[in-house]
Amino acid sequence: MRVAIIGAGYVGLVTGTGLASRGYDVSLADIDAQKVAMINQSRAPFHEAGLEPLLQKLVGKNLRATVETNKAVTTADVVFICVQTYCQDDGAIDLTHIKQAVTSVGKALKNREGHSLVIIKSTVIPGTTEKVLLPLLEKTSGKKEGEDFRIAVNPEFLREGRAVEDFLNPDRIVIGELENDSGDVLCQLYQDFNAPVLRVDLMTAEMIKYASNVFLATKISFINEIGNICKKLGIDTYKVAQGMSLDSRISPHFLSAGIGFGGSCLPKDTKALVSAAQEWGYQPSLLQSVIKVNDEQPLRLVEVAANSVRELSQRKVAVLGLAFKPGTDDMRDAPAIKIINELLRRGALVTAYDPVAMDNARGIFGKQIEYASNAEDAVSDAELVFIVTEWTEFNNPALYRGKKVFCGRRVFSPGQISNSDCEGVCW
Ligand code: UGA
Repeated sequence: MRVAIIGAGYVGLVTGTGLASRGYDVSLADIDAQKVAMINQSRAPFHEAGLEPLLQKLVGKNLRATVETNKAVTTADVVFICVQTYCQDDGAIDLTHIKQAVTSVGKALKNREGHSLVIIKSTVIPGTTEKVLLPLLEKTSGKKEGEDFRIAVNPEFLREGRAVEDFLNPDRIVIGELENDSGDVLCQLYQDFNAPVLRVDLMTAEMIKYASNVFLATKISFINEIGNICKKLGIDTYKVAQGMSLDSRISPHFLSAGIGFGGSCLPKDTKALVSAAQEWGYQPSLLQSVIKVNDEQPLRLVEVAANSVRELSQRKVAVLGLAFKPGTDDMRDAPAIKIINELLRRGALVTAYDPVAMDNARGIFGKQIEYASNAEDAVSDAELVFIVTEWTEFNNPALYRGKKVFCGRRVFSPGQISNSDCEGVCW
């Protein structure tokens, strides 16, 4: 089976590489010529565990990248649309990029003989595939769904930093179909994957994606709120989470209190669902609170520090960790951005370090802060240290001797560092 992937970002590149590793012939189409060139040199355009070794194994064999969407689509049996969807200022989903991708796929399908299956993998608000993308595909291709091509929705549940592993070993495969057999080819494609397959209609598949991400976001804001209350009482939130998670109905996952969720998915998807629900005439008050708690959580760490040392102005502060979580260089919606901006607003002198996200940080903060080339250099001159991403290399108490540490993520186990030297955002 020949596969075309439209959009070689996190989802597209990992999906394409994963399918190529299972023996499929894969063409990745992207409008970014630089990215295409990098992939064709077997280099990953972003930091993702396990991706580059697979590229080195597969590029030049059954995996390639191209800027020619037309060529990729006309030679494929299955076309995955994997472009990123963005948020507008009011939180509503911005479909500009996916509409452009669908238009180019439609134009290519015009010249395609025989059947193909078009799969929407990008995250879109329930109803979008059937009401917006399918009509656009039919208009631009001049062809009819059911007769000339089929359409399906196949949401992704990949975590950045573990995306390759998640793709190859999924918890579940969700297939949204327009008719009961639209997803047959997709089932065939995934037949060697050891995971339950759920076949539903298009809108249900779209909603499963949102409900999953928004549930994870809710769990995080929930435990952060419990953590904020625990801090007032001097209770260790992590012990509370441990006690909760022994209940099999609760599970231990996504109960790590801290400075909140970031990244390109949880914040955007929660806002987009709130905005869509309001448009549909429903006020999702729980989800609005999830966003509010998350917006305030990074600033709480600065507040904890300000309460402890009274004045932040002109204080030398080292910020360790910039990526929105370990294992990635991604800084989209990273809590580090809010924390550093607030430190700067209060007049602090910031030096930052992250093992992989320095280039992205330079693009965001420019000359407003100093950059260190390792953790030792970052802290050497600082009075205060903020730990913002839980990279394992920061779990080194010797690094912080004589410093006052403020932790946004739990990097130390109890007793590893004295409570008078280290204070957590909600422990
Ligand atoms: C998330 C979902 O977990 C994936 O299933 C989904 O496929 C993906 O979005 C997507 O829609 O593409 P990701 O954005 O990579 O994946 O990140 P997560 O691992 O979910 O972490 C998100 C944020 O929550 C991070 O900032 C992390 O530090 C934070 N977090 C996570 C907590 O603050 N506490 C926790 O207990 C867990």
